[in-house]
Amino acid sequence: MSVRPPIATEQLVGELHALAAISDCPEPPPAVTRIVFTETDRRAREYFISLCNAAGLVVRCDAIGNTFARWEGTDPTLPAVATGSHTDAIPHAGMYDGTTGVLGGLEAIRALQRQGVTPRRAIELILFTSEEPTRFGVGCTGSRTMAGALSPDDLRQLTDEAGHDYDTVRQQAGYKGSLSSVALQPGAYHAFVELHIEQGPLLEAAELPIGIVTAIAAPATMEFVITGEGGHAGGVLMPVRRDALVAAATMITRIEELAFQSGSPDLVATVGALDVHPGAVNSIPSRVRFTLDLRDIDGKNRDATLGAIDRATRQIADQRSVTLAARTLNADPPAIADPLVVSAAREAAEQLALPYQEMVSRAYHDSLFMARIAPTGMIFIPCRGGVSHRPDEYASPEALQAGVETLALTLARLAE
Ligand code: GLV
Ligand code: MN
Ligand code: MN
Ligand code: MN
Repeated sequence: MSVRPPIATEQLVGELHALAAISDCPEPPPAVTRIVFTETDRRAREYFISLCNAAGLVVRCDAIGNTFARWEGTDPTLPAVATGSHTDAIPHAGMYDGTTGVLGGLEAIRALQRQGVTPRRAIELILFTSEEPTRFGVGCTGSRTMAGALSPDDLRQLTDEAGHDYDTVRQQAGYKGSLSSVALQPGAYHAFVELHIEQGPLLEAAELPIGIVTAIAAPATMEFVITGEGGHAGGVLMPVRRDALVAAATMITRIEELAFQSGSPDLVATVGALDVHPGAVNSIPSRVRFTLDLRDIDGKNRDATLGAIDRATRQIADQRSVTLAARTLNADPPAIADPLVVSAAREAAEQLALPYQEMVSRAYHDSLFMARIAPTGMIFIPCRGGVSHRPDEYASPEALQAGVETLALTLARLAE
């Protein structure tokens, strides 16, 4: 096999743009919004499946829409090598998060096909359902369930803001079958490798085309609901107020202080969603809901800060005579990449003469859960300014090409 897999970069970029046009964002592409189990999500999946069919891959879906496109190997009895990522996108996202690993994964397979490679193990491309937590509050419902970290009962309890539950919504989206059939056994895959944009500035700053991920930081998500007392903004005097929004603001400021004080440079805390009820200019807020996203590479430090936040927010609620209902939606341990995949990716980059660095992923990915059931690793490519989860997220054609070349060679090695 000649070393450099022939990547059809222009075609890949065209497909990324075509996918970006399937969006619910009020702004035009490259701004993208694509929420799981909506009509837009369905159309994006349909587009993906049509490309997989054109490449001769055999496509199947599980009961929650995880989609598997298989390129059979010469020995179908061996566990497959898998790659993939997600196509759902948070509101006002960019067009490369997740899609790079899905369409890039497809292009890696097509490049190997063009090159005349016949893999011994099958190579499967996976489109994971709902990596983003937008609709159901928890990220990675597809890979989480595949890894057995979310049970059928856990899935049934997930509801969106409109009160629709996951089980009903996935069936309305066309995914039938038993929820208990989604979990895979360890050993189902020989290895898993995900290509993704870095979503941080390090590769660009170091002028390196490739990052090889050695660990994924531990994410946690909490939801806080504060109930105070509403009333007329003119009629209720300050000393007797129990304003839920002022209590929330105090808590959010305290959360930021605790994040700074945690002592870990890797700990990050974000309050990204805030709902105020009733949300009228002349009405005292009676109920506020906000979310917390807390991460650290060190799971123990993350948990210690979660505990400190829990204590501090309860104390503030007491002081302000409001009630607080806090719940932890997820608090996942970090994942460590497997030496099998790391060394395959390293050798691939070296063979391609692409300089790389090993690095930690601060964003989470479906790889966080695939690592529980398969030797897993990730390949990062730089994105402009490290920007992600924004419409101006951008990965150059050159960056995409280097990433897909590395992925293709890594897959070929793992499938030997
Ligand atoms: C997933 O997109 C994350 O927030 O890392
Ligand atoms: Mn994302
Ligand atoms: Mn992503
Ligand atoms: Mn992500």
